[in-house]
Parts: sequence; structure tokens; C-alpha cells
Amino acid sequence: MNQQPEVINQPLPSNFLWGASTASHQVEGGLHDNWTVWEEENADSLAAKAESRHAATPIWEDVAEEAKQPDNYISGAGVDHFGRYREDFDIVSSLGLNCFRFGIDWSRIEPAEGEWNQEAIGHYRTYLSELKDRNITPMATLVHFTLPVWFAEKGGFERSENIKYFVRYADKVLEELGDNLSWIITINEPTVVLGEGYMTKNWPAQHQTVLTGLKVLKNEIEAHRQVYELTRKNSAWKVSMAHHLTNYFPADKSLLSALVAKLVSYGSNWFTLNKVKDHSDFMAVNHYFTHWISGFVTKSRTDKQSDLGWPLQPEYLEDILFETWESYGLPVIVSENGLADSKDSNRAWWIDQSVAAVKRARSRGADIFGYLHWSLLDNFEWDKGYWPKFGLVEVDRTTMERHLRPSAEHYGDLVKAERRKSQQ
Ligand code: BGC
Repeated sequence: MNQQPEVINQPLPSNFLWGASTASHQVEGGLHDNWTVWEEENADSLAAKAESRHAATPIWEDVAEEAKQPDNYISGAGVDHFGRYREDFDIVSSLGLNCFRFGIDWSRIEPAEGEWNQEAIGHYRTYLSELKDRNITPMATLVHFTLPVWFAEKGGFERSENIKYFVRYADKVLEELGDNLSWIITINEPTVVLGEGYMTKNWPAQHQTVLTGLKVLKNEIEAHRQVYELTRKNSAWKVSMAHHLTNYFPADKSLLSALVAKLVSYGSNWFTLNKVKDHSDFMAVNHYFTHWISGFVTKSRTDKQSDLGWPLQPEYLEDILFETWESYGLPVIVSENGLADSKDSNRAWWIDQSVAAVKRARSRGADIFGYLHWSLLDNFEWDKGYWPKFGLVEVDRTTMERHLRPSAEHYGDLVKAERRKSQQ
């Protein structure tokens, strides 16, 4: 824990990955999956509950009208990344980034059980070659929360008999697209699926129990391990899950706070990583939160908030990265890290603090090999819809025009300067 973070001036290695992350369902548009079905069923009730759920957020007055519209909760045309990916890759290039994380969408590749959509495979083949043409290293996610409808109807990851479908899909993706892929994220944030889908029940599958959620976690771990095994045939393939990792620090010196912080941290962070550590080539870390535990309550130590009311403490990225490295000894990448900030008032500061935290973790010996900001584009923020703005790039959803926010330029300048330093 740093009270006064040290500034490290050491250049980063020239192969350090600088980038931004996205997920297919949040940006592509034109999808049909278990989430689009859920959105249709829930848009009206989400709009009706918007005020009670979000009125306490700092920008409620500005977004109330949008948040009360059922349309806000329909992913629909996304931000047309499916049609405009070349333009988006040009932006990635113009910022000097050398890595891009995105989703390959299972519901496009296998829209019905066992039926492979060659057109969709062709789309992602071109997508990957367009990244290659721009010297952007791809990092592909195979499942980022959403599932093909047929797979969800069979019970999805709730049933161990269904693991084979995911493994077959992964195998197909690797066979068809693996020539241009090295970094593969099997499943995004299994603990968030457990939390949101089965504990708070804000997300699909909603109606099930925590016990079923734990089964999903167990089956996703097993599915990940099996995909890891099948990737052993090509040494170029490097595999991880993307883990949602949060710092839980005791807020005082009491034994209770220390114990609760340890237990929560184990359950929400390390339990899953312990189960996949021997089946991972690297550790992909998504980091947004630091919580201070006092007894059984969480206290905030900052007044800075995102548009979603999330406390902003980017400097503690150092701690979670170092702990991940120290615990597993595998190279670590920040695969997501960002904030909802429609006025762009904190994003540049957040990026500076996060990059400084990465450098501090490295200076303590941790092998951190990249930083990917969440997100490149404004996108569909799940059960909150379109009003939270996570993008370095603002998207006008009427015209689909892209505008770089000042923080994007700032990130671009920082990355270019860092890359120059590492070439010297
Ligand atoms: C998820 C993203 C989401 C972001 C911001 C992450 O946990 O992987 O899909 O948009 O958080 O909420």
C-alpha cells in the first residue's frame, strides 16, 4: 500500500503492450445471443427502476432522461464496431497503441448447435489481418459474458455436460483463426458472472440460486483448463482467463477487519486463480476497485467518483498486480482498467496514475507486460445500458461518428513518449 506513490522513471521494455480493450457484445451491434433476448425481456423494467437504482450517481440529472428510456437497455446496433472496425483500428494506430483486446463472438461463429457460420469466420479472419497490417497485436476473448441462445437454452455453463460445446468452439476458432493469434482469453470474469448473475441477480440467469452460480464457476474453470490443454499443440498460443481482481485492505488495525478483508479477497480473487494457475500462460487482470474493510462494512477513502459513483483510486493497481505476480510467478497484463467519465475530467489523471502504478509494480520485480485501457469506445454497459461512458473515444450513436476525447490524445502522447524511451 502506498501512501505517497513513488515515481519511477525506468523505461518500459520495447515489447511492452500498450492498448485498449473491448468486448463483442458491447460494441459490435447486430447480435442475437442470450443477452439480447434478456434485454428485450427486461428493458421496460430496467427503465422503470432507473431512478431508484441510479439517482445517487453524480451525473444523474444529466442522464435521467436517457436512463428512463427502455431503448437505453437494448444493445441493438452497438456502436457498429462490426461495420467500422477498420476506422477503429486506425484510431488505435493513431494513438501509437500496439495491442487491441476484442471479442470473437460465439453466437456469430456458431449460431445454431454444430453449424459454423463461414461468413462470420471470414469476418474475423479479415479483422485479424487488418490488425496485422497495422502491427497491432491482437488479444482475443472467446466468451465475454454472452452466450449463443442455443447454448444458454441447454443450461449454458450450469451443466458440466455442456463444457464440450465451448471446447469445440474454441478448437474451431483456433483452427480457423489461430494463425494470426497468440494471446487468448478464454472466459471473461467468471466471478462477476457468479456475482451479477447468481448473487445480486442483476444479470442473466437471474432466477437461479447461488449454488447454481458456483456450479457455473466450477464448469467455467474446467472449460478453461480443457481449452488450455488443447492449445498446447501450438507454442505460439498463450492462454489466460480475464480475472476481475479487487484490492480488499483492512481500514483499521482490528483483527476482525484484517480477517474479513483476507476472506473476501480469497473468495473473490484468489480462489479462482488458484484453480487455473497451472493452466495459464499468463494472468490477465481486470482492475477497477480498491475496498477498505472495517469490520463487516466497506468504507471509501476518496471523494473522487466515476459517473457510476465508483470510488477512484487508480494508484492501488500496483498492489493487485504485485500480489498476482508474487502469488503465481506468471507474466501479468492489465487487460481492463478504466472509468465511466462522460465529461472526461478524470480519465487522463486515471491513466497517468495507472501507468505509474504499473511501473512501480515492475520496479519491485513483477513481470507486467502490458496495459490495456477499458475501453477504446463508448459502449453498452450491460444492465445500465448506454449512458455510462467508458470510451477514450466518444461515439455519437445517431451518426456513429467517433470523436477522440482529450484523454485519448493524452494517452496517445504518453504511449508515444514511452515507446520512444524504450527504443533508446
Ligand atoms: C467488464 C466489462 C465492463 C467493465 C465496466 C468489466 O468488469 O469486463 O464488460 O464494461 O467492467 O463495468
